[in-house]
Amino acid sequence: MSSLRTHYCGELSAAHLDTEVSVCGWVHHRRDHGGVIFIDLRDRSGLVQVVVDPDAPEAFAQAERVRSEYVLRVEGRVRRRPAGTENPDLATGEIEVFAGALEVLNTAETPPFQVDEEEIGEELRLRYRYIDLRRPVMRRRLELRSRITHALRRFLDAEGFLEIETPILTRTTPEGARDYLVPSRTHPGNFFALPQSPQLFKQILMMGGMDRYYQVARCFRDEDLRADRQPEFTQLDLEMSFVTEDDVMALNERMIRTLFAEVLEVDLPDPFPRMSYDEALRRFGTDRPDLRIPLELTDVGDLMQGVEFKVFAGPAADPEGRVAALRLPGGGRLTRKEIDDYTAFVGRYGAKGLAYIKVNAVDRGREGLQSPILKFLPDTVIETLLDRTGAEPGDLIFFGAGKRHVVNESLSALRVRLGQDRGLLEPGWRPLWIVDFPMFEWDERTNRWVALHHPFTAPRDEDIERLATHPHACRSRAYDMVINGTEVGGGSIRIHRPEIQEKVFEQLGIGPEEAHEKFGFLVTALKYGAPPHGGLAFGLDRLVMLMAGAPSIRDVIAFPKTQTASCLLTQAPSPASEEQLRELGIRLRRPAGEKAHGN
Ligand code: AMO
Ligand code: AMP
Repeated sequence: MSSLRTHYCGELSAAHLDTEVSVCGWVHHRRDHGGVIFIDLRDRSGLVQVVVDPDAPEAFAQAERVRSEYVLRVEGRVRRRPAGTENPDLATGEIEVFAGALEVLNTAETPPFQVDEEEIGEELRLRYRYIDLRRPVMRRRLELRSRITHALRRFLDAEGFLEIETPILTRTTPEGARDYLVPSRTHPGNFFALPQSPQLFKQILMMGGMDRYYQVARCFRDEDLRADRQPEFTQLDLEMSFVTEDDVMALNERMIRTLFAEVLEVDLPDPFPRMSYDEALRRFGTDRPDLRIPLELTDVGDLMQGVEFKVFAGPAADPEGRVAALRLPGGGRLTRKEIDDYTAFVGRYGAKGLAYIKVNAVDRGREGLQSPILKFLPDTVIETLLDRTGAEPGDLIFFGAGKRHVVNESLSALRVRLGQDRGLLEPGWRPLWIVDFPMFEWDERTNRWVALHHPFTAPRDEDIERLATHPHACRSRAYDMVINGTEVGGGSIRIHRPEIQEKVFEQLGIGPEEAHEKFGFLVTALKYGAPPHGGLAFGLDRLVMLMAGAPSIRDVIAFPKTQTASCLLTQAPSPASEEQLRELGIRLRRPAGEKAHGN
């Protein structure tokens, strides 16, 4: 036999009428129609109907014993389906393969779920991923992922980028999550860290004169997982020499526009709008606003200073506080129960309550309004409030008051939730850049300044002199790309002069010794002629998730991990044998399986 098949199932059509073909695939469905057996045979390309007639007795005997997911090879002739039996929903619906021979290449046990089942539990899907992957929706997602990766590679190759691999076994890197560690056998007591990103290596490549680098890079971060986070994920990572932020942003914007045009046939705006970090927080409470939702926050703190309502007056007087309004057009129709549910929802983000005003009319002062908090607010405040929020009859105005970050987190989440619940999402794609990030952020837990991006991000030139004196006011040369409320990528112009790097380390409380011990090679390399450089990394999984319209990044990763960072298919992680541990010089403090204390 020269080869197993002549055609893919899904590519057969009327163009193949009367041709002898052989096709291979899985039994999607089998139907016994009194004497004739119909099999829907499935491979990666789709389905084709196979008809087995008792006139081919050997094939018929085989067909009688096949079950779902058996693997078959069928030889036969392509013929037109009888009039009235065509299936317009199927690409191959005009034709069928009339089997001359049928070979069972493999049997299959009854699968834990049917390939065309609708609601399958994720645990089952992950445990039997090979069956899950046979589902057309999964096949389409991985096909899309492959096309996206290729389109990005083609673009960068044409732009003169070199694809260069960087190590997986390396030192700790500075993206701010916990490291995954790998013990070294040859250096007992020492550990490699898996890279949280190729950040330091790509900077070293620029110092090595590579000028333009990219990589489809695996990154590892031991952090709390969410729908758009995995412990092991993929970045499209790139770096460029002798560039400004405008160069990096222009190239990446062009790349994403090309990608959407090629793969989705969608024209994204040119250029992408830019918004400062401060504006994003002020208007949307988050640095990754979903611009498809036509709702905005309005600051009202200045109005609430000194009002009788302590819930508002307190945060209004607190420099760390915020009082903001969120107007929901038509929200006057919300029921008491719905408002209570939203109050519980913002509670998850630490909000102590969710005050509101129902607007029945705007020209009758407090008479036109309904709210438990009206009695605490003077007329002038109410008037300005209505004016500033642009209130109209039938609206509802929500309020958040408290610590700035609690108000921002709760109202930005509420904004997204309202957008979904009330069907306010405008269709289409709304990319934007967030720029002018603060250089540092105060970490309440450790009581020190931490880098908002990472410690290698350059400050604006005009802020270099005041890094130590005005850390809160310094802005960095970082940029994030956000699409429909997802941060798909981020990057910055880097520090390329050693004395500035030292200043930033100092401000971050990383002393010369620690800097030397953790990033010594980078600091040294900066002293041997480092070019100005900058770059960016896209979360490839997130980008594919968005473009595929998938609910989670787990749906666009062939073998993802669960919420507790384990693999249900392979049952990783698993205990190491005593022998392996001895070789590595490791003794366990707790037997495998016992939970760590504290966290
Ligand atoms: P950053 O940490 O912002 O930057 O990561 C870049 C992009 O990677 C994606 N991402 C993730 N995706 C899935 N699971 C995760 N756990 C996860 N964490 C991040 C996001 C994010 O925008 N070295 C810098 C880039 C640079 O400065 O060039 C970096 O890693 O989409
Ligand atoms: P109270 O006086 O606590 O009964 O609150 C009166 C109204 O203010 C209720 O609608 C509460 O949900 C709301 N509220 C309480 N705390 C806050 C807060 N921190 N932010 C916004 N609204 C609040």
